[in-house]
This record gives sequence, C-alpha cells and structure tokens, in this order.
Amino acid sequence: MTKTNLPLDADRLWSDIMALADITDPARPYTRRSFTELFLEGRALVATRFTEAGLTTRIDTGGNLIGRIEGRKPELGVIAVGSHSDTVPSGGRFDGIAGVATGLEIVRALRDSGTQLDHTLEVIDFLAEEPSEYGLSCVGSRGMTGFLDVKMLDLVEPGGEKLRDALRRVGGDPDRLDRAIRSDIRAFLELHIEQGIVLESQSLDVGVVSSIVGIRRIEIVFEGEADHAGTTPLHLRHDALVAAANAVAIVRRIAEELDAEGPDYFVATVGILAVEPSASNIVPGRCRLLVDARTTNPALTARFVSALDRESAAAATAARVRRSAFTTLSDGPPVACDPDLQVTLRAAARDLGLAQTDLPSGAGHDAAFMSRICRSAMVFVPCRAGKSHAPQEWADRDAVAAGAAVILQAVKALDRSLQDA
Ligand code: GLV
Ligand code: MN
Ligand code: MN
Repeated sequence: MTKTNLPLDADRLWSDIMALADITDPARPYTRRSFTELFLEGRALVATRFTEAGLTTRIDTGGNLIGRIEGRKPELGVIAVGSHSDTVPSGGRFDGIAGVATGLEIVRALRDSGTQLDHTLEVIDFLAEEPSEYGLSCVGSRGMTGFLDVKMLDLVEPGGEKLRDALRRVGGDPDRLDRAIRSDIRAFLELHIEQGIVLESQSLDVGVVSSIVGIRRIEIVFEGEADHAGTTPLHLRHDALVAAANAVAIVRRIAEELDAEGPDYFVATVGILAVEPSASNIVPGRCRLLVDARTTNPALTARFVSALDRESAAAATAARVRRSAFTTLSDGPPVACDPDLQVTLRAAARDLGLAQTDLPSGAGHDAAFMSRICRSAMVFVPCRAGKSHAPQEWADRDAVAAGAAVILQAVKALDRSLQDA
C-alpha cells in the first residue's frame, strides 16, 4: 500500500485536527463539550476554515454548522460529508473531528485540482453527537432527519437550562425545527476512527462500515432516605446506593447472558451513577443511574429492558427503597449502511491501493440518523490500540489521510453516478 500519492493534502488535514485539539479544557484534555464556550470557540474555528475554503457557511435551525458549495447542476441535490466537533469529557482528538476535517479537506482538494462537482457539496458539523448534559446524543442529526421530538427540547441539564434554550444559544431555532429537515441530500458519507482494534490488528488501512448498532438509554432512579451513617442501624436503613449497586451488577449480568447467546452483539454499561447527597457520613438518599445498551438485534434490547425492569424493581424492594423512575431517554434502532454506497467506498479504497475490510460499528454515529433520509455510509480508519473516548485516543496522520482520500474518491464517483435529478 502506498499513501504518498493521495489526492489531498495530509498535512493540511492534520493541521485542522490539531488546531481543534488545542481548543480544550486545559484541566481535562481533550474536552470540548457541546453547548459550552469551548465548543463555540471550536465551531468558530471550523466556520472560519469553511469560509477560507470557499464554503458558504450557516447554522441550521437544528444547530448544525453547514458549509456549502454550489454544484454545476444544483437540481441534482446535495452530497454531504461530515461528523461532529464536540467531545465526551476527557475524550480524544479524533472522534468526530477527523470526519469534519475530512469534509473540509475534500473541498480544498477539489478546489486545488480545479474540480467543480455537478452536485452541491455540503460539509456538516452536527450538533452534540455525544450524549450532552441534557441526556441526549445526536441532537443535530436528529434535527436534520425529523427525529428531534419537541418533548426532547424540554430536557434539562443539571444547571437548569432547557435543551430548547441551549439550542437557541448555539444558533439554532427550536421553534422552527421543521426547517432543518432535509429532503435534498442524495448521499451522506462520514469518516471516523474505528474506536476498535480490527483494522490495527489486521494491518488494514480502512474499514467500510456495514452497520451501526442500535442504542437504548434508560434512566433509573432509586429514592431512599438520607440518614446518619454512624447512628442508623443497618436494618433500619433505606440506602438508595445499595439498590443502585445491585442494579449495576444486574445490568452487567443480563448483558453477558444475552451476548453469550450469539451471534448478535450485545453490550450494556452504567456510565453515570449520581449519588445524593454524596457525603462519607450520610446514608445515600437518592441514586440516579444511566444505562446505555447496544446491540445489532432490537429483539435483544426488548428482552434486556424487560429483565432489567423486573430485576431492578426487586433490587429496590430488597434495599427497602423506592424505584421512582425507569425511563427510556432515547432509543435508536440498529442501521444497515447503504449497500450501493458501500460498493462505491470499496471501489475507491481499491483504486487507491488501500487494504480494506467490511466491519460493523459498535459506536453510534450521525450517519445512523442520516440513513433515515438518504443513502448513508461510513469509512473507518485505524486508531491506536482501539482506544477512544479517552485522552490516549490516537490515529496516524497518514491513516486519517488515507480514509479521507477514500471519501474524496467516493464523492467524485457519486457525483458521476447520481445523475438522475
Ligand atoms: C458515540 O460516541 C457513542 O457511540 O456513544
Ligand atoms: Mn464518541
Ligand atoms: Mn463520534
């Protein structure tokens, strides 16, 4: 495989990724949480670079930052490329960012080679792909595809701000969400780091993504009674954390059982556990858990939820506390990537001389929502030791550039093949 003759500028692409990496909470690299000042600073940088690349830049009512370059035959519709610029807390420099930077570099590479597409090309930085403080992920791609339910706008972050107000603050318009919904996008392509070890362990350059997992997020709240940790005898306590600790173990056990059945993938995680009042000498009075369950088979999610519902209720009874919430916050089904776009991506990788495989995604992506309104597909590039959602996340400059070149070649191929208006 040779990566020296790629039809784009690997250094320029890399410099965008590194410039965004510099915009981080210094105490928690790499943190640029959606809706924060840092996020807006990152977006200002992206918008500037969009403009410098010749893109007309706007924020849609769903809060997505969109750069656009008109095609020779605008009636053919839009080919879109993108991902997200927000991060998880203490996340990495590449998750999402590499996909946005890829879109930008494609525009510059086309310009440098004097290529004007027939289709209009858009580069999209979707709003809040990562679960935000409002408890919702993929806010922008939900908005663009009509899946940002008005009820979701009432979600509140711990400081009390509603998602509706936060959306307005970052340039969206919660009262005109219908204007964000698109019917003119013909194809969407997203480059992303793999966030797993398949490509690296097999010394492959790119992965063409076959499917994206479904994700269900469930909030469970246990309410007990705060009491003195020294004077309240064990048999008189109503300890919310005892119920929650059991619930964590229950989540893990049910997930292991479902995954072991095979062949479908099943994982579940409790990533948030909030204990109140959280003091060493107070029996926990309230505990909130957030469960994230993922699978390629929605029937397994249904079985998981019903078992967890039953067993977490029993855990509450055993700890003599009340389970005051068992609520689905979001539920995205598994999605198959578009077969024709996969063929286009495989051909592009082959023409570039890159070693490739097909692989499923265990991570969620904006492409999953985009697949509800247009053909959508993804390219993965290797990342070191599969590490992601952690500061150690790393992808090599040439690896990202190779994946970006696949997207560029695919955009050109789609521009030729999608000629029916
Ligand atoms: C997105 O990063 C997800 O898979 O949660
Ligand atoms: Mn992520
Ligand atoms: Mn991502």
